[in-house]
Amino acid sequence: MDYLKIFSPATVANVSCGFDSMGFAVDEIGDEMTFTKTAAKGVKITNITGADLTYNVDENAASAVVKKMLQDANADFGIALTIHKGFSPGSGLGSSAASAAGAAFGANKFLEHKYSELELTKFAMFGEQVACGTPIADNVAAAIYGGFVLVRSYEPLEIIKLPVPKELRVVAIHPQVEIKTKDARAVLPTEIPLKNAITQWANVGGLVSGLYTDNYQLISNSLVDLVAEPARKALIPFFDEVKNSAIKAGALGAGISGSGPTIYALCEGKENTENVYNAINETYKKTNIDFTLFTSKVNAAGMKILE
Ligand code: HSE
Repeated sequence: MDYLKIFSPATVANVSCGFDSMGFAVDEIGDEMTFTKTAAKGVKITNITGADLTYNVDENAASAVVKKMLQDANADFGIALTIHKGFSPGSGLGSSAASAAGAAFGANKFLEHKYSELELTKFAMFGEQVACGTPIADNVAAAIYGGFVLVRSYEPLEIIKLPVPKELRVVAIHPQVEIKTKDARAVLPTEIPLKNAITQWANVGGLVSGLYTDNYQLISNSLVDLVAEPARKALIPFFDEVKNSAIKAGALGAGISGSGPTIYALCEGKENTENVYNAINETYKKTNIDFTLFTSKVNAAGMKILE
């Protein structure tokens, strides 16, 4: 194989109650990446479109991952990369994760599928570390495994792929302000009251159970975040207004996508999704902040091979 083109999905991490431990992939938004085998060893980036990202192979999340994998596998060839970002860095939709996970997935094809999905997740976490300073797994695991994932343990890393109820859809609004993950992590509490911890882990259990049993009411009841959302929502203009309008329009729940500023709402079925989309649209149109708004199915497959 000499050439590969893939789609690597955007992802919603945390899913309210599952801070740093849950995520899901979306269908409509993501990066397109190409990989071309080169006789010269090592990695290079030949083109980046859609965002202003570094071509320095040690600082770019995608190339850093490919470089590490080629070295680890002792490959006697190299890879030239192109990256087309389909959504903005700093959106809270796993931008660096899409690049890092896509890089791991693509490079693995040239290495004859040497690595498992779990190992690819570890390589992609290295890309997250390069991009934002912390090797977080929730976004990259969702992009690699597809659907919903639970990061059951970080040491050792254990990822559980969860089922996706058929009617589940997402509406997401990206207000055009940038929030760096590093900054959003700096405002997090270092301790949480036991009462809140109990609520949080009970809701993770409820969400997982709701996903397994197609129980939309249980999913709805469980989409509560007492850990990150109270601290982070001040960074997101009109967060409460969006969340309230989504819930009023019938969303199962709404919260911050990853570290923000994107706000996601989970919905049941097409009509419910349209109502929530319209309600959020009306709410944000009244502000003076530009935004993009989209709906998507949950992407159960994860990565797609395009060519
Ligand atoms: N779980 C991470 C966070 C996702 O919320 O900080 C962003 O990488």
